[in-house]
Amino acid sequence: MAHAIGFDIYGTLVNPLEMDRHLEPVVGELAGRFSEVWRARQVEYAFRRGLMREYRDFGVCTRQALEFAARSLGVELSEEEREHLIAEYQNLRPFPDVLPGLERMKSGGHEMVAFSNGVEQTARTLLERAGVMQYLDGVVSVDDVATFKPDPEVYAYLARRLNLPAEEVWLVSSNAWDVIGAKSFGLRAAWLQRDPEAVFDPWGLEPDLVAGDLLELSEKLA
Ligand code: LAC
Repeated sequence: MAHAIGFDIYGTLVNPLEMDRHLEPVVGELAGRFSEVWRARQVEYAFRRGLMREYRDFGVCTRQALEFAARSLGVELSEEEREHLIAEYQNLRPFPDVLPGLERMKSGGHEMVAFSNGVEQTARTLLERAGVMQYLDGVVSVDDVATFKPDPEVYAYLARRLNLPAEEVWLVSSNAWDVIGAKSFGLRAAWLQRDPEAVFDPWGLEPDLVAGDLLELSEKLA
């Protein structure tokens, strides 16, 4: 059966922790830690801005989180290094299963869109460069409703854009908090457990499906 599916981008289709490759020449052995702090703060800033109703777009969260990571690790970035890192954030590569997995799902007749905290144009550039856009029917950005995941408003917006009742829309995300946000609103959701040791939050809201990658998901959703 064909489904309507929104795919989370960061952590699900591309790996933001891969920024460690670009951080290495700048911060040396701190690169791994730096990329983790950067990503964790980026997500936290979006949560906080959503709660505070102080919306600034995800690009601002990314930049401010980069600055936080640098300060907290005692690194001073030049203007040029900062711009280089932000530019490379648009060149993140897909996880190895993503292109074959999406191709298989596309041939299954599903309607597939990216669904992200990211600004639409930024997300499109990233997904085009990653070779992912060719499999998608569009990009749905929370920027249109000026709040962030997991505000129920953004899951409602995804269903509106797909022109379907919530219970007929799927979210696919490796971020457990995104899956829980979607389930809480009433969407169906698949958790992509990319890291076998990742633990799903025990909130009593379980994913409808769990898969290790998109190839496995394509079998389970068929
Ligand atoms: C996204 C981030 C939250 O793509 O992973 O929405």
